[in-house]
Amino acid sequence: MAQELRIGLLGRGTVGGAFTELLAERAAEIERASGKRFEIVGTLRRKSGDFDEILNNSDVIVELMGGTDPARQYVTRALEAGKHVVTANKQLVSQFCDELVEVANKSNVQLRFEAAVASVVPVIRVIRESLAGSHLEKVHGIVNGTTNYILSEMANTGADYSEALKRAQELGYAEADPHEDVSGLDAAAKMAILARLAFHAPVHLDEVSCEGVEDIEPADISYAKEFGLVLKLLGVAERIDSGMSVRVFPCFLYGGHPLATVNGPFNAVMVESEAITEITMSGPGAGGIEAATAVLGDVVSVATTEIEFPEQVESLEIVPPGDVESAFYLHMDVEDRPGVLAQIAEILGDEGVSVKSFVQSGLDENARLVMVMHSVAEKHFWSALDRIAELDVLRRPPRAIRVIEEEFGQ
Ligand SMILES: NC(=O)c1ccc[n+]([C@@H]2O[C@H](COP(=O)([O-])OP(=O)(O)OC[C@H]3O[C@@H](n4cnc5c(N)ncnc54)[C@H](OP(=O)(O)O)[C@@H]3O)[C@@H](O)[C@H]2O)c1
Repeated sequence: MAQELRIGLLGRGTVGGAFTELLAERAAEIERASGKRFEIVGTLRRKSGDFDEILNNSDVIVELMGGTDPARQYVTRALEAGKHVVTANKQLVSQFCDELVEVANKSNVQLRFEAAVASVVPVIRVIRESLAGSHLEKVHGIVNGTTNYILSEMANTGADYSEALKRAQELGYAEADPHEDVSGLDAAAKMAILARLAFHAPVHLDEVSCEGVEDIEPADISYAKEFGLVLKLLGVAERIDSGMSVRVFPCFLYGGHPLATVNGPFNAVMVESEAITEITMSGPGAGGIEAATAVLGDVVSVATTEIEFPEQVESLEIVPPGDVESAFYLHMDVEDRPGVLAQIAEILGDEGVSVKSFVQSGLDENARLVMVMHSVAEKHFWSALDRIAELDVLRRPPRAIRVIEEEFGQ
């Protein structure tokens, strides 16, 4: 008779429900893979279950409630009591990772959270375990399926932002209140977690600068197509000199970039280092059964391994966003008269911003200039943009969006 692994389940909503069903369906495979018989010995919901009783009866606590309060208290108490914890909670891990890891290490138990980033796409496991010996330079990707669906829909159908959001809500890809997703905050929480794991340095959610997709216009997407560019909301965590930058922003990618073809609600994460060049992992980034699959994988790992979370070994300062180098796309609706281009070129030249390519099109009230710049420290570009915005030859404020220059294999 296989030994029993007693699971205490906190939360039985979309993911908790799917987890319970999956466990019942896959009982035989799980026992073969782990040598143990998994049993849910208690479930906590808002109006049922008793946390202390569940804790006392369990070997592993699976936290699928969401939010930080009371999840933080319950997870801390479970770790202190010497129970392994598996969670899917990105808010909890992005804000309290170091604190929880310290408690887990003291108690010699595991804290696993694969489903917290990109759901069932195994990015946490790959960074933490498979690439533990690699000095990762950069982790970047599409870590929010809602915004990726919205941008894909805008590009494919010409819909504006609110139409695309409405479709995402109808299909269940966006919440009734989409703020966390469309503002970039959800992606920021996931990038804080990935950066923490990749660079072994503390990264708090507050340190991740983030911009969302609410202000993207269909024209940005269609004009950029003339340059072969596709718009994505990216999370980018990278080492820069002796520091790091962790940011979320909408940006254009060239068609040959591995993330350019990731469409709809899918997620994808790329990791880069000298030894591995680059690895891209992609798949469904949300959904109850997908997240439950990742949670179950973590519980199997807890049952079969003794891996501890690596100690924090590096101290990397966050590089001020203005010092990070980026390339930009710049769209200007301009007066149709001589000398306009010269005025803009003079400002760009003054600030050390050089133009990689540009298209001048339209006549009269439709005249516009669309440019793609070479990489430059962002503070120089923003300073040029402020000066350009003051020119009386512009018919409306200029619009700028970052461009990722790497094309990989092109
Ligand atoms: N849904 C996804 O696609 C997905 C994907 C990846 C990760 N996640 C993460 O997985 C976690 C769960 O998400 P979900 O979509 O399953 O949420 P959900 O459907 O809202 O379910 C939450 C569950 O937690 C219970 N709960 C909430 N607050 C509680 C409290 N104070 N005390 C006791 N029970 C409480 C709820 O109880 P009642 O049943 O009584 O309401 C419910 O059973 C979140 O951290 C989420 O970010 C979700």
